[in-house]
Amino acid sequence: MSNASILITPSILSADFRILQKEVESVEPYADWLQIDVMDGHFVQNLSFGAPVAKWIETKLPLDIHLMVQNPRDRIREFLEIGAKNITFHAEAVGEGKERKALLKAIHEGGATAGIALNPETPLSAAEDILSEVDLLLVMSVHPGFGGQEFLSDVLQRVQAARAAYPDLMIQMDGGVDAKTAPLCIQAGANNLVAGSFIFRSQDRAEAIAALRACATSSPG
Ligand code: DX5
Repeated sequence: MSNASILITPSILSADFRILQKEVESVEPYADWLQIDVMDGHFVQNLSFGAPVAKWIETKLPLDIHLMVQNPRDRIREFLEIGAKNITFHAEAVGEGKERKALLKAIHEGGATAGIALNPETPLSAAEDILSEVDLLLVMSVHPGFGGQEFLSDVLQRVQAARAAYPDLMIQMDGGVDAKTAPLCIQAGANNLVAGSFIFRSQDRAEAIAALRACATSSPG
């Protein structure tokens, strides 16, 4: 996998919200996407923000919406309206079959790409019904809800299996991604790395993002 094919996606959950716009501008020249972590206090314990906040962010970066919510279908329209590039919903929140296909259709018809996310304990088989139709698979490497947790390396096997079965799928990993764990993610087959703390807790955002990109060139395969 070439360096150019790895996308770096800062997650704003770890940004300083007093100066959110500045924080976004600090990563904009170096990042590929920007992740908006939407939490509803039900699907995950934590409560973060939604489209009414995200709509004020001014950026050229494509917005990647990670819906950690119990009812993703209720949130799709408002994120399409603010021009989301990608909307990811959780396999644990949406029933297999018809329900997922309807959501996928709504996202695609609204002009965005669609992703399905798996919590660390959820097997790949839980998304099997839709993996050939989604644009992205998000494999969580922490339990969603909070930034700054330790990377769970058990999930790497799942990434390897997904990469083997779907060579062209965008596979995103999120949680505990830093310069030490990024090579593991890339070796396993991930090509979109989400990082919150590692980027926003660094004084030099260019350097932090460059360090993640460098992992792609140093990883075999
Ligand atoms: C976890 C969020 C992540 C989180 C990652 O609930 O989905 O995006 O912000 O943060 P770090 O990189 O700090 O693990």
